[in-house]
Amino acid sequence: MESIDIEVDALRDWLESGRPVTVLDIRPPIQREEWSIPGSVSVDAQATMRPSAPATIAGVPIPPGQQVVAVCAQGKSSLLAVRALREQGIQALSLRGGMQAWSLAWNLADVDLPGSRARIIQVRRTGKGCLSYIVESDGVAAVVDASVDPDVYLRIAAERGFQITHVVDTHIHADHLSRSRALAERCHAEVLLPEQDRATYPFRPLADGESFEIGAVRIQALHTPGHTMESACYLVDGRALLTGDTLFPGAVGRPDLAASAEQARKRAHMLYATLRKIAQLSPDIWILPCHTSQPIPFDGKACGARLGEVLRHVEMLTAGEESFVEALLGKIPETPPNHLEIVRLNEHGEFPEGDPTRLEAGANRCAIS
Ligand SMILES: [Fe+2]
Repeated sequence: MESIDIEVDALRDWLESGRPVTVLDIRPPIQREEWSIPGSVSVDAQATMRPSAPATIAGVPIPPGQQVVAVCAQGKSSLLAVRALREQGIQALSLRGGMQAWSLAWNLADVDLPGSRARIIQVRRTGKGCLSYIVESDGVAAVVDASVDPDVYLRIAAERGFQITHVVDTHIHADHLSRSRALAERCHAEVLLPEQDRATYPFRPLADGESFEIGAVRIQALHTPGHTMESACYLVDGRALLTGDTLFPGAVGRPDLAASAEQARKRAHMLYATLRKIAQLSPDIWILPCHTSQPIPFDGKACGARLGEVLRHVEMLTAGEESFVEALLGKIPETPPNHLEIVRLNEHGEFPEGDPTRLEAGANRCAIS
């Protein structure tokens, strides 16, 4: 029997290659607010089951011969929708596993670094908003904040002809499971983490100011406590700063995860000092964080901004220390579900059996703007 569903990887490849496809999101609007597939259109599920005419679904025009993909939360009601659409002669497929499975989809963007011998590729987990980086120079590479399956990084390395020799995290993550240890094992690379006593598996600690080399370029660790105590940023060839959850193009990191109220206040003060230190760097450097709160389009444009722009746009950065701390603590967003379990697994370098998206469900909520 002909398959009526499509795997996440296949839809990902279609969107990346620009193949025309209409993605119909049949979830209730409240779920869609949390996250969605870029370019998808929201339609009422019931209306989808009763297309008024073959060329229109719930008011959405479908060009003749257009491929439709229906998406729901877990890939069940979208199957019913697809059956109804097919009865009307519409070429429809259901996204297998729904948005939960889509949480693992990824796309790429190259970061423009003129004059550098480093190449930075941003690997984006589009649904979840996790950003990881491959820093490559002279055929060797470091992966920073690995957040998609190790196979993805190995596939990119094979396609572009380099070898992954270092795997690095900016901090112990609380909102997604780090794939760094698993990736390092797959490619026999060294794991580097900021100096700290939280991670219980073997790693090479990086102290404040310490560097390592990737091909012809130097990557320097800067200890930047605040979001977490151990958080570090990595300065690549003096041109780009991989900031983890410390600084975003339009926001700063939250200081409260896995912390008491007193610890969160202390971390907020530390974040202030950290951000003052970062503000002293050249305004031309790229600020490249490890998360974004919006689903990432298949547009090949890197998520990031020059430091000068960030300093102009993030209002909190212009405040004095006390007002910064009060503003930050007054705007703490909802805590990500399962974050304590995720922290525990990341401290142990463990990856749970089965489907990781159960623990990682939901949009990212790391930033405060
Ligand atoms: Fe984080």
